[in-house]
Amino acid sequence: MIRDMIFDDLDQVMEIGIEAFQMHWKRKDFEYEIKENEFSHMLVYEENHVIQGMIGYYILFDDAQITTLAVRKEAQNKKIATALMNQMIENCNHENCSVVSLEVRKSNLAAKKLYEKFGFIEMNIRKGYYEDGEDAIFMMKALGGNINE
Ligand SMILES: CC(C)(COP(=O)(O)OP(=O)(O)OC[C@H]1O[C@@H](n2cnc3c(N)ncnc32)[C@H](O)[C@@H]1OP(=O)(O)O)[C@@H](O)C(=O)NCCC(=O)NCCS
Repeated sequence: MIRDMIFDDLDQVMEIGIEAFQMHWKRKDFEYEIKENEFSHMLVYEENHVIQGMIGYYILFDDAQITTLAVRKEAQNKKIATALMNQMIENCNHENCSVVSLEVRKSNLAAKKLYEKFGFIEMNIRKGYYEDGEDAIFMMKALGGNINE
């Protein structure tokens, strides 16, 4: 089941975040995204009361940006990220977004492949984007919203 993230999920969400990323959001960052940031949408994939994955994205007018995506290590390669991405895209289309974008580490071939599968196109490189100096690839995908609206 995919549903909105709530405060009670945060112990498990933190486990997934710490496991998946060298540097990631702190608990208070997730709390801010859930409670205070009106542009932020946070979804979890739950199976038998276990959170297996999460996705975060902002919607600003007709522009969507993925802020985080991670799947628990032992649950990877079961199309959970695919399900979360599909739900995010459906929600963004529902909100008439015209484009969705993201940054991904240059070395993160698995995620890059996932995004390419969804039709994201590499737009440019953001040099030294991450705190450790690694470059980011900036990727974009057109959505169903009408840019001229
Ligand atoms: C990237 C990540 C979210 C993928 O999650 P997942 O649930 O395992 O992905 P899915 O099973 O939905 O895979 C969908 C597609 O992604 C690509 N992919 C996923 N894992 C891959 C891997 N290890 N190597 C190569 N391609 C991979 C494949 O194209 C795959 O399609 P296929 O199985 O038909 O070949 C997961 O590996 C993860 O949490 N990684 C750590 C956090 C991270 O890098 N997040 C992205 C930050 S930008």
